[in-house]
Amino acid sequence: MKALVIGGAGYIGSHLVYELIRDNHEVIIFDNLSTGNKNNVHSKAKFYLGDITNNEDLVSLLSKESNFDVVFHFAAKLIVSESMEKPLEYYYNNVEGVRTLLENMNKFKLNKIIFSSTAAVYGNPIKDICEEEDLTNPINPYGETKLICEKMIKWCSHVNNLKYGIFRYFNVAGGDKSLEIGYDYHNPNKTHLIPIITEVALGIREKLNVYGNDYDTRDGTCIRDYIHVTDLAKAHLLGAKHLLSGNDSFLLNLGSNNGYSVLEIIEATKKYAQINYEISKRREGDPSILIASNEKAKEVLNWRPELKLDDIIKTSIEYCKKIL
Ligand SMILES: NC(=O)c1ccc[n+]([C@@H]2O[C@H](COP(=O)([O-])OP(=O)(O)OC[C@H]3O[C@@H](n4cnc5c(N)ncnc54)[C@H](O)[C@@H]3O)[C@@H](O)[C@H]2O)c1
Repeated sequence: MKALVIGGAGYIGSHLVYELIRDNHEVIIFDNLSTGNKNNVHSKAKFYLGDITNNEDLVSLLSKESNFDVVFHFAAKLIVSESMEKPLEYYYNNVEGVRTLLENMNKFKLNKIIFSSTAAVYGNPIKDICEEEDLTNPINPYGETKLICEKMIKWCSHVNNLKYGIFRYFNVAGGDKSLEIGYDYHNPNKTHLIPIITEVALGIREKLNVYGNDYDTRDGTCIRDYIHVTDLAKAHLLGAKHLLSGNDSFLLNLGSNNGYSVLEIIEATKKYAQINYEISKRREGDPSILIASNEKAKEVLNWRPELKLDDIIKTSIEYCKKIL
């Protein structure tokens, strides 16, 4: 296939690019490098610098490069706390970006899109294991912008000849086995447990704050669903092939059906290094358990996560050690 990967210089997009190239596909990356990095661009992929909120940038790209079989969209702002402070920047980049993209996809007769969405569309989930049919009720502008994009894509598919695959990711972590790409450890806005505990393991950060040990869980700390970024990328490849084989559009969670508590992650990381941590107060808005049901992804795409928690921790530590 000929694939356009928008946001392909970022963390998750670059992992998809590696999987596409391993599977012998032609890849064009389009990215404004706002959070992405040119070092993440695979040597066999062609790179265009540009912004999807800018109509001219898209027209220029699509006039030069045509006949994409699938467009993968990763380009978004995604820091929840920042979205609470600067909601309009999130609406502009995430929503206007997708609107401009869809308009140009229609103009240039591109009719398949795979879109990155998030567990944040569920808001405070009503049950521990989230299913795709559950109520969506985002509690921050980031989640809201992603939900709007999901709806925009669905409505466009009613009027245009558009097929879509929407993936809602849970906690994505780890790095490629080559250790050439991985999580952006230079990013100062780390909020996720795996990158933070990786830094503690390597002595870059003094200690880990565990926010609350009085939740109604097996050890009192929050339970989350972790998925290796390579498993996630492989799901995108399967999703694209599914659409290219003439199947219907889909919306799927990508997670493991399983969860680990913060203390369990600490225990698993101790294999590599001592982890200093401190129990502090609960953070506002943290649900006690957040796990993705992946039954539908298994059924529709025959996808299963293959990599384990240890693969996530190991590749995370090894990549961080390599780049810092
Ligand atoms: N990382 C996670 O844990 C996670 C969880 C759920 C969903 N997601 C979704 O996955 C996608 C990718 O996330 P990531 O972690 O790889 O983030 P990232 O910041 O590493 O990657 C985003 C990429 O998009 C580019 N970009 C942003 N706005 C752009 C624009 N207007 N025009 C062109 N390029 C633009 C950035 O430069 C970057 O390369 C996002 O859509 C995010 O909402 C991520």
